[in-house]
Amino acid sequence: MEKLNIALNEDTRKSVSDQLNSILSAEHVLYIKTRNYHWNVVGPQFYSLHELFEAQYTALSESIDEIAERIRSLGYNAVGTMGEFLKLSNLKEEAPRTYPDAGEMVARLVEGHENNIRALREAIDMIGDECHDEGTADFLTGKMEEHEKMAWMLRSFLAGPSTETSGPSTAK
Ligand SMILES: [Fe+2]
Repeated sequence: MEKLNIALNEDTRKSVSDQLNSILSAEHVLYIKTRNYHWNVVGPQFYSLHELFEAQYTALSESIDEIAERIRSLGYNAVGTMGEFLKLSNLKEEAPRTYPDAGEMVARLVEGHENNIRALREAIDMIGDECHDEGTADFLTGKMEEHEKMAWMLRSFLAGPSTETSGPSTAK
C-alpha cells in the first residue's frame, strides 16, 4: 500500500482495489477460456469462431492490463498468480481436457461474459455510490459495455434465422 492524497481514504482505496482484483481474476478466467476455445474449436464454423475468439481474447488481454494498472493507480498491488486468479474469480475455469462442441463453446462464453457483466454492474454501483470513486466506476462502466458488445457478437452465432430478437413489441 502506498501513500496517496487523492481524496479517497485508505479504506476506500483498499475496498475498491479488492473489488478490482476479483474482477481482474474473473477476466483472466474468461481470457483463458476464450483462448482454449480459439485453439480447440472444430466444425463448419471453425474459421469464423477461431477468428472471433482471437479478437475477443485480444480485447480481454488489453482490459486485463488496464484493470491491473488501475489497481496500481490506487496504490495497491494487482494479483498476478494463477492460484490467486482462480481463488478470487467467481467464474469457474473449464474442466481439464474436455472440449465442448462449437455451439456449447459459444454458449459458455456468453455465460462468462454475462457473469462478468453482473459482477461489473454490482461493483460499479458499490464503487460509485458507497466509495465515491467515480473514476473507477466510470472506467468499469466502459469495461462492462465492452462485455455487452462481445456477448452480443457471440449470441448472434447461436441465433437461428427465424429467431425473434427482443425489442419493441408490435402487439396491440
Ligand atoms: Fe492463434
